Amino acid sequence: MNSSVFSFLSDFVFLLLLFIQIPSSLSNEDLFTACSKKFECGGISAGFPFWGTGRPAACGIPEPELELRCENNIAKMNINKVAYRVLEIYPILRIAREDYWVGFCKPQFMNSTFNPKIFEPDEGYPNFTFIYGCQDAPKTLSVFRTFTCKTNDGDDQSVYIEEGENGPGECNGSVIVPLKDYPPVWNTPVFEWNVAAFEEQLKKGFEVRWKVDRECRECSTGVCGFENVTSQTSTCYYPGMHSPPEISS
Ligand SMILES: *[C@@H]1O[C@H](CO)[C@@H](O)[C@H](O)[C@H]1NC(C)=O
Ligand SMILES: *[C@@H]1O[C@H](CO)[C@@H](O)[C@H](O)[C@H]1NC(C)=O
Ligand SMILES: *[C@@H]1O[C@H](CO)[C@@H](O)[C@H](O)[C@H]1NC(C)=O
Ligand SMILES: *[C@@H]1O[C@H](CO)[C@@H](O)[C@H](O)[C@H]1NC(C)=O
Repeated sequence: MNSSVFSFLSDFVFLLLLFIQIPSSLSNEDLFTACSKKFECGGISAGFPFWGTGRPAACGIPEPELELRCENNIAKMNINKVAYRVLEIYPILRIAREDYWVGFCKPQFMNSTFNPKIFEPDEGYPNFTFIYGCQDAPKTLSVFRTFTCKTNDGDDQSVYIEEGENGPGECNGSVIVPLKDYPPVWNTPVFEWNVAAFEEQLKKGFEVRWKVDRECRECSTGVCGFENVTSQTSTCYYPGMHSPPEISS
C-alpha cells in the first residue's frame, strides 16, 4: 500500500517535471539576481566585467579571457592560452603565471599577451624575455641575468633573461613575461643574485588594467551586464524590470 502510494507520487513528480518549462534564456529579472552574486574564491571577489563560476557570461563582458574559475579555492583565469592565478582583482588585476608558480625551469612556451580591446599593460611592469635551450649565450647586449635549470637528462641548462620583447633567436624557446620594473633582487650584483628571491618575485605577479567598465558606473541601483556582444552594448539589470534601458558604449 505504502509502496504504491510512493510509486504514484514518484510518477506524479516525474510527469510534473516533464511539464515544467525550462526557460530558454534568463529573464532580466533572473539576470539581476544572478549578476548580483559575486564571484567568490579564496578571498578574491569579483563582479562586472568578470563572469564564470555561477555568474552567467551576460553578467560580465562575455569574452573568454574575463572568465574566472575556482580550483581548490584558488581563483584562476586563462588569458590568450596562458593560465594565471588571480592574486588581486580591484582596482587592477594582479595575476601570476601558473607555470612560473612552481619555478622557472618548465614553462609553457607561450608569451603573456593581452587583447588590447580588453586589457592595457601597466607601465610599472615592463616586458622581459626568458630564453631557454641555448647552445651559446644569446649575442644580444641586454642579457640581464642567467639562471640554471636541470634538463631531463640531468645536465645543467642556462636560461637567460633579457629586457624587452624578444624571440628565441638561435635558442630553442622563449617566453615574454611582464615583471615588476627592477625588483629589489635585480639591483643586487650578479654574484649575489638570489634565485629563490626571484622565484618569490614571480609569484607576486604583475598588473594589467581592463578597459571596459566606464558605462557601468551609471548602473547605480541595478547591476551591470553585457547583453549584446555584437552591438557592444552593456546594460543594467534591475529587479522586476523586463526591458531595462540600454546604455550604449
Ligand atoms: C609588452 O609587450 C606587449 C606586446 O607583446 C605590448 O603590447 C606591451 O605594451 C608591452 N608592455 C610594456 C609595459 O611595454
Ligand atoms: C634544442 O631542441 C632540440 C630538439 O628538441 C634538442 O635536440 C637540443 O638538444 C636542444 N638544444 C638545447 C641547447 O637545449
Ligand atoms: C613570443 O614573442 C616573440 C617576440 O614577439 C616571438 O618571436 C615568439 O615567436 C613568440 N612566441 C610564441 C610561442 O608565440
Ligand atoms: C545585437 O546588436 C545587433 C547590432 O546592433 C542587432 O542587429 C541584434 O539584433 C542585437 N541582438 C539582440 C539579441 O539584441
